[in-house]
Amino acid sequence: MRKVLEVLKGKSLEIPPVWLMRQAGRYLPEYRETRKHAGGFLNLCYNPELAIEVTLQPITRFGFDASILFSDILVIPDALGRKVEFKEGEGPVLEPIRIDEIDKLKLDGFIDHLKPILQTVSGLRAELPNETTLIGFCGAPWTVATYMIAGHGTPDQAPARLFAHQHPEEFQKLIDTLVKSSSSYLIAQFIAGADMVQIFDSWAGILGGDQFQRWCVKPMAAIVENVRKEIPDAPIIGFPKGAGSQYNGYREATGITGLGLDWSVPMAQAKELQMGGAVQGLLDPLRVIAGGSALDDGVDEVLENLGAGPLIFNLGHGITPQAPIAHVEQLLARVRGS
Ligand code: CP3
Repeated sequence: MRKVLEVLKGKSLEIPPVWLMRQAGRYLPEYRETRKHAGGFLNLCYNPELAIEVTLQPITRFGFDASILFSDILVIPDALGRKVEFKEGEGPVLEPIRIDEIDKLKLDGFIDHLKPILQTVSGLRAELPNETTLIGFCGAPWTVATYMIAGHGTPDQAPARLFAHQHPEEFQKLIDTLVKSSSSYLIAQFIAGADMVQIFDSWAGILGGDQFQRWCVKPMAAIVENVRKEIPDAPIIGFPKGAGSQYNGYREATGITGLGLDWSVPMAQAKELQMGGAVQGLLDPLRVIAGGSALDDGVDEVLENLGAGPLIFNLGHGITPQAPIAHVEQLLARVRGS
């Protein structure tokens, strides 16, 4: 039985299953080696052979309980016909979308463009150990829209927030297109062999009040509903990073199965949220750089507070390129008591 799926059904396991967001990535020398020969980050995402190879690297090295498809949230704008590039040392760069271009996003042929990624998913299911959960993913509409509008990451995604205030109707159209495309992409990942999916709303924490409801909660609920029409009971983790007090009620309002928590969530709140079902998280990724007692104490705090309930052990955001491999081994040994 795949442990992550058991936890998502509400089971509490003696030793929680563990995986790390961004577990395939630059902290691994074998990833850096493959990446050198892939000829650009998007080429790596669209090359099933290489994408399978890097997805499996952390499984082979550490034996995590779950494997997350190697891809990126920005393949959706790419597949919708926007220009997307990943520049060395700069991160993603997109051509900022203009109001009059929102109607021109191409939904025809969108899934065809993503076929190589679906091939990666089916190839992975064939190659992974039977007990390893295979996780598919996409970005939440709000988070993907922030990059489409600004063209790059910014400290507070002000361009998208301003756009949403100035042009709410046009922004709604963009969000609706992202809901549609993301729903069909996730359904296709399930059909290709994903056991569950995670929806990353990495920029949820910069919205409040009606904006959080309209741009984060509603689109997430719509995707969950669309996916479950085709894949009844589909297990879905939602990760509204930085949502603070707005985490309360989020699971119920969106219909997600598991709730991804970031490291700023207080343990008392995390315990309350766990009463509603499985939680995933929430170790500060910087503790993995620090190592030593900072790492051990952080792991212990999560286990002491959340270990008796349905818990998927993870970081509160992606692992950083600076994380030493020995510290990842230390984390795993501490979680598993080995
Ligand atoms: O191992 C895994 O977790 C699977 C792969 C994965 C990547 N990106 C690979 C990647 C996943 C799940 C993502 C999600 C993603 N991508 C998010 C949501 C999660 C989060 O971190 O908040 C976001 C916002 C993006 C967009 C993105 N992609 C940014 C902002 C960057 C640049 C920052 C960085 O870390 O370099 C990327 C690039 C990226 N995506 C890399 C990887 C391994 C590094 C690129 C490289 O190898 O050169």
